[in-house]
Amino acid sequence: MTPASSLLRTRPSAFLDDVLTGLARVQKSIPPKYFYDEHGSRLFEQITQTPEYYVTRTELDILRGFAPEIAMLCRGRTVLVEFGSGNSAKARIFLNAAPWIDTYAPCDISAEFIAEEALALARDLPRVVTLPVVADFASRIALPEVIRSRQSAALFLGSTIGNYRPDEAVSLLAKFATTLGRDALLFVGVDLLKDTAVLERAYDDAAGVTAAFNLNLLRRINRELGADFDLDQFTHRAIFNPLESRIEMHLVSRRRQHVHIGSRRFAFSSGETIHTENSYKYTVSSFEELARDAGWRPLQAWTDAAHRFCVQGLRRA
Ligand code: SAH
Ligand code: AVI
Repeated sequence: MTPASSLLRTRPSAFLDDVLTGLARVQKSIPPKYFYDEHGSRLFEQITQTPEYYVTRTELDILRGFAPEIAMLCRGRTVLVEFGSGNSAKARIFLNAAPWIDTYAPCDISAEFIAEEALALARDLPRVVTLPVVADFASRIALPEVIRSRQSAALFLGSTIGNYRPDEAVSLLAKFATTLGRDALLFVGVDLLKDTAVLERAYDDAAGVTAAFNLNLLRRINRELGADFDLDQFTHRAIFNPLESRIEMHLVSRRRQHVHIGSRRFAFSSGETIHTENSYKYTVSSFEELARDAGWRPLQAWTDAAHRFCVQGLRRA
């Protein structure tokens, strides 16, 4: 069991290009996929343990409660693909409920992290062949041949779809349809619109773990791209934007300052921000409409009693 496509790791030059382009914008921005170096992946795991971040806990409850029902929809399929698999904790629930699945392909950009998680899964569930794919799932992914030739079920959980603008989310889901092939099933975790205070607390926990996750992006840029961000001079901000139905995360410059990356110099005024993440919140019906636009047919939506989160089952239309 080795990473199927370690050649597809993020190229350092792509990271540099994206950061230089993003910081040159009027509203400075950096794509959230760069949060997930090894330390960032660990910080994300810590976020999922904070009392305020209901997302992971709620989705796990939904999956545990409905796993037999969801698994029955996947009878006859022996392959499970997961986009943005992280620690594969949710896939484990699914694999235990569907013992006929013998092959699992976790696809994630966080190379070291998923290599470790895939090893642990192979140890704990030896009946399943685990074939990690290290790739940006928004680019063209080559799934291993053994997977392409079989009908698959796929997971895209944790509300990672929410980190894309709705138009990008449509393109991404359409790409997954092409990657997975005919008759694919896809289960998407979608965070639902709710009270602003609950949302803002979830992205600004009292212990400061989300702040550390956000600031780690600057640490990564310093380390990998040789920049000189002073982490003490930026603070974390999370606000709900009701017009766009999204939580926005920003890094706010505490003062007027300059930051260097190679020969480039970026000026920050006091209070100026780098927009680092969007996390869109949907209703069940607004997400179903988005999925239809991407060529998927909604099958069923499973939610928790408080309607905080939903797992949406989709079949390729
Ligand atoms: N599915 C897990 C993890 C969610 S965190 C859960 O529900 O808990 C988001 C995951 O997606 C991280 O593991 C991150 O490394 C991965 N990820 C984010 N952007 C990605 C991209 N563009 N391509 C591949 N993986 C990505
Ligand atoms: C991975 N993604 C869905 C998380 C979210 O909720 O948008 C990332 C995250 N950012 C801050 N906290 C968690």
